[in-house]
Amino acid sequence: MDIRDRNIISGEEVLGLNFIKGTGPFIFRRYYRSGLRSLIFEVLSAGDVEKETQGRISDGIRVFPRARPRKMFRILRNRFTSKEEVLKEIRKYTLLLDCLGPGLMATSEEFIVDYAVRGKREIVLCGLQEYIEGEILDPWRLPDRGLLRDLFASLPETGAGPADWSEKIRQNMARFVEKIREMITCTGYIPDLAGIGNLIVTADGRFKLVDINNIVPLKPDDTILIDDKGYPSCDVSVEVLSILEKDILQTDVPPDDPLYLHFLTPERKKEVKRLEKLFYSRLAS
Ligand SMILES: Nc1ncnc2c1ncn2[C@@H]1O[C@H](COP(=O)(O)OP(=O)(O)O)[C@@H](O)[C@H]1O
Ligand SMILES: [Mg+2]
Repeated sequence: MDIRDRNIISGEEVLGLNFIKGTGPFIFRRYYRSGLRSLIFEVLSAGDVEKETQGRISDGIRVFPRARPRKMFRILRNRFTSKEEVLKEIRKYTLLLDCLGPGLMATSEEFIVDYAVRGKREIVLCGLQEYIEGEILDPWRLPDRGLLRDLFASLPETGAGPADWSEKIRQNMARFVEKIREMITCTGYIPDLAGIGNLIVTADGRFKLVDINNIVPLKPDDTILIDDKGYPSCDVSVEVLSILEKDILQTDVPPDDPLYLHFLTPERKKEVKRLEKLFYSRLAS
């Protein structure tokens, strides 16, 4: 069966794929978080995995340090009919990198492989991506106050107090909002900010977008675009942007701000909610 149709594939199975060299010093492990669009694996050094399972002696005590991924390996589930289509997808990634810069996103080496399946060859887009260790910032689960402090409490050793850490996150988030707004104005595209796990905060105060393969156009009219999975990710991403900007950063956005004025009208939001419900009911069935 085509790997892109499978819910789960194991790390060992990855080693058996025709485009993976299975004899290197690396081990693939299925990542415990996952999304709809990609199959994601940790790329671990075999030596690190050995220390994780056998342990090592530190100050006379046996410890089992977690093997930290050297990279994240992503296989995109998308079907591409031509090389041109795949290159277009990669160009969107480059556009995102040009707009956000490496500080605000998980950079990736995107590459095309020739996947052998059912006696045929198919084009598949993969990425070897920087691993971002941290906590998910879920814009839909904001407590009334102290969201950032709550996140701070769940991070291991931050090396800074909660106030300094929160301030650093806020500065990076403000830069993120500014860059996304620039991207919208200059290119007419927005990345998917809506998916659970797409935004991560790190112990050293960085704020990063890790889902870099769903970059969708914004339409200046009443059309509510749905993405390839049937989700209104453009509208919901604009809403997430407004949550970051208005609710978390508490920026005073003028009521006639053209972006929010266009996308976040009550009627439009109602229709987006309906499309979201439809998406979730299809997922469940
Ligand atoms: N480079 C990365 N570092 C850390 N976590 C990641 C990275 N890429 C993805 N993830 C996590 O894996 C999960 C799925 O990733 P995502 O990129 O959103 O996949 P999809 O394209 O399927 O939506 C998310 O929870 C995300 O936080
Ligand atoms: Mg995602």
